[in-house]
Amino acid sequence: SAAEKGGYDYFMLKEIAEQPKAVADTLLGRIDASGVLSLDEVRIPPEVLREVDKVVIVACGTAYHAGMIAKYAIEHWTRIPCETELASEFRYRDPILDRHTLVIAISQSGETMDTLMALRHAREQGAKVLAICNTNGSTIPRESDAVLYTHAGPEVAVASTKAFLTQLVACYLVALFVAQVRGTKWGDEIRDVVRELAAIGTQVEQVLATMEPVRELARGLADKNTVLFLGRHVGYPVALEGALKLKELAYMHAEGFAAGELKHGPIALIEEDLPVVVVVPSPRGRSVLHDKIVSNIQEIRARGARTIVIAEEGDETVVPYADHLVRIPRTPVLLQPLVSTIPLQVFACELATARGNEVDQPRNLAKSVTVE
Ligand code: G6P
Repeated sequence: SAAEKGGYDYFMLKEIAEQPKAVADTLLGRIDASGVLSLDEVRIPPEVLREVDKVVIVACGTAYHAGMIAKYAIEHWTRIPCETELASEFRYRDPILDRHTLVIAISQSGETMDTLMALRHAREQGAKVLAICNTNGSTIPRESDAVLYTHAGPEVAVASTKAFLTQLVACYLVALFVAQVRGTKWGDEIRDVVRELAAIGTQVEQVLATMEPVRELARGLADKNTVLFLGRHVGYPVALEGALKLKELAYMHAEGFAAGELKHGPIALIEEDLPVVVVVPSPRGRSVLHDKIVSNIQEIRARGARTIVIAEEGDETVVPYADHLVRIPRTPVLLQPLVSTIPLQVFACELATARGNEVDQPRNLAKSVTVE
C-alpha cells in the first residue's frame, strides 16, 4: 500500500532513501568514542581469529559484490589472504578449507540456498563460518558459528539497495575488528578509517541530496540498448553492481568491466554514443589507478562513447572528458563504494521507471532464491 511505501512510489525509492539510517543503525554500538570496535555478538574467540590463515567469502548476486569489495579491505587491513567466490560455484570445485579458514557468508535474506549449501560444506570441512545477514533468526545465521547482523530493516524491493550498503559496513567492521584483534597494521591509517566509517552516514546523505541530475540523465537514456560500466580496485565490483542493477530493473544489456581489462577486449564494444559509466578511484591514495582510469576515459571518448563519470569532489582532471559528471564526496579509498554505488542505484531505478518496468517486482526474479 501507499502508506507502507512511506509516500514513495516504490519500495526501492524508499529503501534507497533509508540508506543513511540503515548504515547508522548497522554501525550503532559497534565503534566506541575512542575508535575501539566491539563486536561482542561475533562469538568467535580472539584466539581463533588470531589463528585464521585464510578468509573465504561466499554469497550470491548483490551480496557477492559486497564480498568482492570486502576482499580488498580484508587483505589490506588484516594481511590475511582472502578470496571471494560465488556460492553456487564454491562447493563444486573441492575448495581447500580447514579449521584455520574463516568463511564469511553474506546474505540479506539468510535463506539463499546456494549460500546455505556453501556454508554447510565449509563447516563439514572444519572451517568457522561467520554470517553477515539482515534477517534475524533465518537459516544461514542459525547454521553458522557466529553472526553479525546488518540493521537495514526489512528490504521489500527485489533489487537490493540498503541491504548492500549495510553489508559493506558489516564487512568493513569485520575486517577492522580482525585487524584490531591481531594488531595488524593497527596504526594511524586504520584509526582514520574507523573515524570516517563511524561518520559515513553524512556522506551517504550528501549523495542522496544530489541525485536529480542522475535521474534526468537516466530518463534521456531510456531508449538505449546497452550500457557499460568500468571501475578499478573497489570500483570494479561497484561497476559490476551497477550493471547488475540495470539488468534486473531496466532489462537492458549491461556489463561491468575492470577498467584495466578494457584493452583486452571490451574496447571493441565502444561505438558512437554508447553510454559508459566510469567509477573513478580517488586521486588521493592509489593515484596511479586514478591516472590510468582517466586515460581509459580519454580512450573510450576518442572512440565516441558517451562518458558518465562518477568522481570525487575536487577531482578536476576528469572534467574535460566527462559528458556527464556525477560528484561523490571524499571518503577513504576503501570506503568509496558506500557512496559511489548510490548514483548507480538511482540510475537503474529511474531507467526502469522510464521504460515502464515494474520497479519493485522485476520480471523473472525473486527476492530470495530458496532453490539451487
Ligand atoms: C536474489 C535477489 C538479489 C540478491 C540475491 C542474494 O537473486 O534477487 O537481489 O542479491 O538473491 O540474496 P541474499 O538474500 O542471499 O542476499
